[in-house]
Amino acid sequence: MTDRTHPHETIVLATPPDAIPPEAIALAANLLRAGEVVAFPTETVYGLGADATSEAALQRIFAAKERPLSDPLIVHLADASQLAEVARGVPPEAEWLAERFWPGPLTLVLPRLARIPALVAAGGDTVGVRVPAHPVAQALLRAADLPIAAPSANRFMHTSPTTAAHVLADLDGRIACILDGGPTMVGVESTVVDLTTSPPRLLRPGGVPLEALHAILPDILAPAFAEDVPPPTSPERIEPAHAPGQMARHYAPHTRLVVFDATGAEALAAMLALAAEALARGERVGALAADEEAATLEGAGVRVARLGPVDDLTAISRRLYAALRELDAAGLDLLLAHSFGTRGLGLAIEDRLRRAAGGRLRTI
Ligand code: TXA
Ligand code: MG
Repeated sequence: MTDRTHPHETIVLATPPDAIPPEAIALAANLLRAGEVVAFPTETVYGLGADATSEAALQRIFAAKERPLSDPLIVHLADASQLAEVARGVPPEAEWLAERFWPGPLTLVLPRLARIPALVAAGGDTVGVRVPAHPVAQALLRAADLPIAAPSANRFMHTSPTTAAHVLADLDGRIACILDGGPTMVGVESTVVDLTTSPPRLLRPGGVPLEALHAILPDILAPAFAEDVPPPTSPERIEPAHAPGQMARHYAPHTRLVVFDATGAEALAAMLALAAEALARGERVGALAADEEAATLEGAGVRVARLGPVDDLTAISRRLYAALRELDAAGLDLLLAHSFGTRGLGLAIEDRLRRAAGGRLRTI
C-alpha cells in the first residue's frame, strides 16, 4: 500500500457481543489510552475512536479518514453521568432525553467544556455527545475510562461501515486495530439534535425517530430535505448553516445512484422504466429494493440487493449500507433506489439515500 499513514498493520480482534474477550477490550483500551485510533462497533455503525481529550489523538482520526477539520466529531461516553465531564450548562431537556434514549442512537449537541479540544467541534464551542448501546462499545468505553471521539469508521464521504469488513475495506493499514462485533443492529447513524439553539433543532435524522423526540421536544425544528439537497446541476459540496459536516453528497457509493422520491407501485414502475432505458444502452443496472420488489426487477435484468420486507423499516435500515456497498462493488453502471416514506426510520433512510445520490433525486 502506498497511502499508509500508520506504521502498523491493522489488527482485527473478534469480539462477539455475547462473549466479549476481556483481553481484546484491554488491548484496544490501552491503544486508546496511548493516543492510537481503534475502530469499534456501536449499535448504529462502526466508529473510529480516539481519546477525546487529546488533540494529537484526534488528529489521527482526521488523518486516517482523510476528513477535513471542519467536520465535527461525536464524543462517546459509557454513561450519562459523565456528561458533566465534557459539556457545561446542560439543560433539563438533555437530562430527560438521556434518561429516555441512552444508551442508544441519539446525539445531543451541547455547550463544550474546555477540557475537550475545539478540534472535536470544528473550532466551535459545542460538543456532540452520545452513550452508545452496543455491548462492545460499552465495554471499551468503560475499560478506556475516557470520553472517546468517534466518527463513522469510513473514508471521508464514503458509505458508513456496518461490519468490520467494511471498516477494513476503507481503512486497512491506516489504523491500529478493529474490534469485530459482527454486523451492527440499527444500521444508520444516530439522530443528532442541537440543544444549544432555541427551539432545538434536528441536525440529522437517525436511529431515534423524530416522532419519538416530540414528547420531550414538542417544538423541535426539523428542516425539510429540500433545504440542503441541491438540484443536480449545482456544486456537490453544500454546507447547510446549522449542520456542519453534513454535506449534500455524503454516505456515497462510487457508482452513479438515482433515487426516486416515491414509494410502492409508483416507485417500482419508475425504477423499471429507467432500468429499461439504461439496459437498452447496454448498461448494467442494480437496485436497492424491498423483498417484494426483487423478483420483478430481477425478471427485468436488474441486479437486486434486498433490503427486507417493505413495511419493516428496522430491517431496511439495518441492511441499507451493506446493500449499497454490495452493489457498488459489483461493477455496475447505474444504481436505483426509492423512498420508504418519511415516518419513523423512513426519514433517516430517505436522508441517507438522498445524500448517497448527491442530488440525483427524481420526483415523480
Ligand atoms: O451513530 C453515529 O452517530 C456514529 C457512531 C460511530 O456513533 N457516528 C457518526 O459520526 O455518525 P460522524 O462523524 O460520521 O457524524 C457526526 C455528525 C457530524 O458530521 C455533524 O453533522 C454532527 O454529527 N455533529 C457532531 N458534533 C456536532 C456539533 N458539535 N455541532 C453540530 N453538529 C455536530
Ligand atoms: Mg460519518
